[in-house]
Amino acid sequence: MTAVSAETAEGFIRQVAHSFGKACDSYLPAARLQQQVALDALALLPADKQGHLLDLGCGPGWIHPRFASYCNQFSAADLSAGMLAKAATQQLATNYVQADAQQLPLAAHSVDKLFSSLMLQWCPKPAAVFAEIDRILAPGGRVVLTTLVDGTLAELKQAFARVDTLAHVNHFLPAAAVVAAAESVSTINWQFEQRCYPLFYPDVVSLARELKALGANQVAGRQSRGLTGKGYWQSLAAAYDDNRTTLGLPASYQVLIISGYKNAN
Ligand SMILES: C[S@@+](CC[C@H](N)C(=O)[O-])C[C@H]1O[C@@H](n2cnc3c(N)ncnc32)[C@H](O)[C@@H]1O
Repeated sequence: MTAVSAETAEGFIRQVAHSFGKACDSYLPAARLQQQVALDALALLPADKQGHLLDLGCGPGWIHPRFASYCNQFSAADLSAGMLAKAATQQLATNYVQADAQQLPLAAHSVDKLFSSLMLQWCPKPAAVFAEIDRILAPGGRVVLTTLVDGTLAELKQAFARVDTLAHVNHFLPAAAVVAAAESVSTINWQFEQRCYPLFYPDVVSLARELKALGANQVAGRQSRGLTGKGYWQSLAAAYDDNRTTLGLPASYQVLIISGYKNAN
């Protein structure tokens, strides 16, 4: 998201919570990118069965059975009550906390390992999330985060731009802006790696359906809901089809993988 007023940011946060809440049952079958990215990210945490881990923006908690190798207890936090309730059906975490990552109700230095996959791009103020991570992470603690950055869904954005001038796809921050937000926290030693995950779809409707099933169809500052009409979808499909490969229609997801450790003192 770009810089927005406090009022707009609050409205957007409410929409995001609502949208992910509605998707809590349809999310997992649609989450092929999310599963690939989170498993790649988890491999960057030390698998030493030690300490208190926090899964920030946990979604339905499909990854939670894996945490047994990474910590001796974990907490799960999410903005969406629906997602958190879904995660809680497993009863694997010590605590399930409904909270905004930009303002966490967790004590200072209470977390040894922080894991957060594909949540940060939904937060209007990434610097506030990094400040909270700095506050709750214990000295010597580790953090692994992933987020979508600029270039994500570029093909879809370009196809929409050939049909009308409205914002239909979320704005993803440039990687450099996310890096700068992380680096505003100097007690954590950061490493960054950008990877492209291409996914393929039979047609543009399948891509739109997947985004809806994930709850990832909120667009900050959308001027109109207006995706109606057969003619509109036909024009969009024709515009997207210029990208077609033998594998289908490509959609690029640009993922920034951020890892860090906090100075021991
Ligand atoms: C794409 S899902 C990722 C879920 C899970 N981490 C995964 O990898 O499958 C994003 C999650 O972040 C949550 N989320 C979005 N904004 C948040 C915020 N400001 N604070 C906490 N959670 C947030 C959403 O409710 C949703 O469950």
